[in-house]
Amino acid sequence: MTMFAGINGFEYASRDDIEAVQLERMKWSLKHAYDNVPFYRKAFDEKGVHPDDLHALGDLAKFPFTVKKDLRDNYPFGLFAVPTEKISRIHASSGTTGKPTVVGYTEQDIDVWSEVIARCIRVAGGRAGDMVHVAFGYGLFTGGLGAHYGAERAGCTVVPASGGATAAQIQIIMDFKPRIIMVTPSYMLSLADAFDKAGIDPRSTSLEISMHGAEPWTEEMRREIEQRFDVKAIDIYGLSEVMGPGVGSEFGESQDGLTIWEDLFYPEIIDPETGELMPDGEEGELVFTSLCKEAFPIIRYRTRDLTRLLPGSLSKMRRMARIFGRTDDMMIIRGVNIFPTQIEEIICRDERLTPHYFCEIRRPKVMDELTVVAEAKQAFSDDHNRAHIAEELKKSIKNLCGVSVKADVREPGGIPRSAGKAQRVFDFRNLADK
Ligand code: DLL
Repeated sequence: MTMFAGINGFEYASRDDIEAVQLERMKWSLKHAYDNVPFYRKAFDEKGVHPDDLHALGDLAKFPFTVKKDLRDNYPFGLFAVPTEKISRIHASSGTTGKPTVVGYTEQDIDVWSEVIARCIRVAGGRAGDMVHVAFGYGLFTGGLGAHYGAERAGCTVVPASGGATAAQIQIIMDFKPRIIMVTPSYMLSLADAFDKAGIDPRSTSLEISMHGAEPWTEEMRREIEQRFDVKAIDIYGLSEVMGPGVGSEFGESQDGLTIWEDLFYPEIIDPETGELMPDGEEGELVFTSLCKEAFPIIRYRTRDLTRLLPGSLSKMRRMARIFGRTDDMMIIRGVNIFPTQIEEIICRDERLTPHYFCEIRRPKVMDELTVVAEAKQAFSDDHNRAHIAEELKKSIKNLCGVSVKADVREPGGIPRSAGKAQRVFDFRNLADK
């Protein structure tokens, strides 16, 4: 379809051109969803809106939201807008409970996706001829194959390492000498530990650019990665429901947050409680409408990711602030809201702790109890030393987050390493309730 040609280079278009393209594509996407997906037809009809009611971008707010449950209710292929024989690829995300959410791509969707990831690699500082080590998991998860096709499209040499088999990854990086690595931030840190263990200084590798996403991470974590590997660490964002990695990405030149590829995905921020649209700059839940997807158009999808929209910088497309949490990762401890990223900031600032951590929530009686489990860089000289570090961690969390927690500081290596997305929160309250 010629309508979607010309993605390459459009990241530098003027704001007027961007908005003109958005409006044209949004009209197409709403009509495509309405005409081909019974779920959308019913939802629009129930709300009394029709694709013809969209005259300006702001009219999108009249249309209904789509939520994860809608995907589950239509499992597996109920939201596809093309017959299955037109689907070239399926991905799925397992989530923590229930049925996986399944998404599909036509040949053109894969083409657009590859093109946009190639754009992410280019703006990160990659170029044709670079070798890219892809350590996102391959399989139903969108990370591995998404990055793979995009890196090929950018003219790079791809090493499809996938996640896990850490010792082999170290050897491949040393022998093949990639310039770029694409991997979750938590697994990047596991790789750093594995380099140390193998007696190799991670700063001595050929890696110059690392692209990280698939889980929330902090500026402190970025600093840690950049220092340990002597690389430029770049944020890349996405979710399977909207496409996969590459919905937004950071420019290597400015490292000033994720630019949302607004010519393909239209962002809105809403109040997660009321669903009200929020102005740019205000914090809230990120909502996306796909503008070009054929197989799996998605209209006003509530991502549960919390952030705010910022004006464009190197591109005129809007940026978003680092995702500081997900509505479903938010821990409410005795009335105080805390996100794992807040704990991560504190841990990464403490010279004595490794960046590996997780949180456990329990309800022994009536009150919720949060235990932060961290790991020391050095073996403890004695129990007093360990208790002292834990005490200071508790104090910092109380000071910064306003809630009293328990802290458990483990010996070096005491926290299991992630090979993909790290699980930061373990909630044992429901188990205890039963
Ligand atoms: O994680 C797609 C992806 C793969 C993105 C590789 C980037 C790199 P899902 O498994 O559907 O898809 O999970 C999507 O992960 O809603 C966010 O909560 C989180 N997430 C993804 N990228 C980032 C990021 C992939 N850069 C969910 N920063 C999203 C913070 C992120 N959170």
